[in-house]
Amino acid sequence: MPASSPLFDISKERILVTGATSGLGLHFTHLLARHGAKLALSARRKDKLDALVAEIKGAGGVAHAVAIDVMSGESVRAGLAEADEKLGGISVLINNAGIAIVKPILEYTEEEWDQVVGTNLRGAWLMAQGAAKIMVARKTGGNIVNIASVLGLRPIGQVPAYTAAKAGLIHLSKTMAMELAKENIRVNVLAPGYVETEMNRPFWSSKGGLALISRIPQKRVGQPEDLDGALLLLASQASRAMTGSVVVVDGGHLCSTM
Ligand SMILES: NC(=O)c1ccc[n+]([C@@H]2O[C@H](COP(=O)([O-])OP(=O)(O)OC[C@H]3O[C@@H](n4cnc5c(N)ncnc54)[C@H](OP(=O)(O)O)[C@@H]3O)[C@@H](O)[C@H]2O)c1
Repeated sequence: MPASSPLFDISKERILVTGATSGLGLHFTHLLARHGAKLALSARRKDKLDALVAEIKGAGGVAHAVAIDVMSGESVRAGLAEADEKLGGISVLINNAGIAIVKPILEYTEEEWDQVVGTNLRGAWLMAQGAAKIMVARKTGGNIVNIASVLGLRPIGQVPAYTAAKAGLIHLSKTMAMELAKENIRVNVLAPGYVETEMNRPFWSSKGGLALISRIPQKRVGQPEDLDGALLLLASQASRAMTGSVVVVDGGHLCSTM
């Protein structure tokens, strides 16, 4: 499917996606591939990446698998160098890898905190900083899209490390946007509300899930496709004057009554 408007054209973009093996990252990968972008796909599970690359190539796209564990600076640096070499430069980073551990704050362990903050904030910072260094060295400018969450803007209970990490990522994005504008690098945030994916699907028909949906003004849980417009906006030159912006896609959840 070609881009519906030249304004949102990404067919010349060379895009690195993190967390491409499942959920939103997998959905974004198929969206970007359908719109003709050249892709480097990363996550830890190399077998899944290889299968995904084969699928995209089979449909006529261009994709490379690059195993990266964002918890490791060494892995991030090696993966970025490999993606840069395979793509011939990275023009866009979709910084999506993330995890959540649901637990009351009094029960949270140091290891759990480090895992969640290490992936969602430190890992996202390592990826964004590393990609920006490559963009600066190549003098090409570039575009970084950090995937945060509405929970970085308005917290809920039981996910203390996740809400802290996503709030941190939003602030980090604004700092990076300020510092990197002179290098012609844009940094924006996509903040989804609750989105139905394979992993959380059973929850949405449970009592708790239905109660949560009733508090969303649009009275529906988001579908991955609901993010397509915002992702294409941020990944393309349609957002050329946007940097340090937070684009919320949440069915109105953030403005629901307290
Ligand atoms: N689903 C939602 O409702 C929702 C709402 C708001 C925001 N988000 C955000 O959207 C992003 C994707 O979430 P999701 O729901 O799609 O989650 P998911 O299905 O669990 O996918 C997470 C992805 O991150 C990768 N990953 C995890 N730890 C990693 C690490 N240390 N290094 C490299 N890759 C790692 C996983 O791949 P491997 O296991 O192969 O490494 C996987 O591809 C996250 O940042 C999340 O916070 C999701």
